Amino acid sequence: MINYDEVSQKYKNMNIEVPTKDMIKTPEQIEGIRQAGIINNMVLDEVSKHIHQGMSTQDIDDIVYKKTIELGGIPAPLNYEGFPKSCCTSINDAVCHGIPSDKDILQNGDIINVDCTTIYKGYYADASRTFCIGNCSEETKRFVKVCKESLDLAVKNLKPYSRLRDIGYYIESYVKKHGYTVVHEIGGHGVGVGFHEDPFIYHYGRKNTGMVLFPGMVFTIEPMINEFSREVFLDADNEWTIYTMDGGLSCQFEYTVLLTETGVEILSK
Ligand code: MF3
Ligand code: CO
Ligand code: CO
Repeated sequence: MINYDEVSQKYKNMNIEVPTKDMIKTPEQIEGIRQAGIINNMVLDEVSKHIHQGMSTQDIDDIVYKKTIELGGIPAPLNYEGFPKSCCTSINDAVCHGIPSDKDILQNGDIINVDCTTIYKGYYADASRTFCIGNCSEETKRFVKVCKESLDLAVKNLKPYSRLRDIGYYIESYVKKHGYTVVHEIGGHGVGVGFHEDPFIYHYGRKNTGMVLFPGMVFTIEPMINEFSREVFLDADNEWTIYTMDGGLSCQFEYTVLLTETGVEILSK
């Protein structure tokens, strides 16, 4: 574990914002979150194995609930601030927080993001994957690939004592280069002891700016990228689901990552 006070002072002297002490997880907390990450990956693997054209998003929710409970976990979304289901299922122009329903049937050519968060022995891990259903167009497959690559690029460039806004810089510059846009309104977050902790993780920004990131921090990176405009709106009926303003596709991948003294450990993906 780092000497928080000493390291913080060094960066404060350089006028660089530092994380608060509670953003640095203890070795015991890290081990707990690591276990939650293993379970969360197993839940997402179960979804990956069974997802197919013709099934409903409620069927996906049933898989998530059943597998999570079987593994001794709790699906964190269920009853979280009134959210009614165990995972989020966001199809095509849904950016995030889609609510599973037996009325929503996966169609050939759809893309769908399934976002799972598991609580295990009190610790949280959060990750999501986007799936192509049936035969997606080459353009759609390219779009999904660029989204995943933008996240992998941000992780590849992440190191202890990186600056927070570098994450967004790598994501947005890569996405823009390929002709797509990044949603700004929703970001990643600290995670582990709670579901959504500080800091807010931007998916856009200027290099070499923002808070310095210390070893022991655990947070999500979860870029939402749009095919056309980055503008979004909130579903007025359910007050959860976010959609693209122009009806274009939106894609997302999410990892829970741990910053170590030497690099990055992906705890859930
Ligand atoms: N898993 C989402 C995230 O990545 C949060 C979902 S909140 C819910 O932060 F209530 F919609 F489940
Ligand atoms: Co998240
Ligand atoms: Co999530």
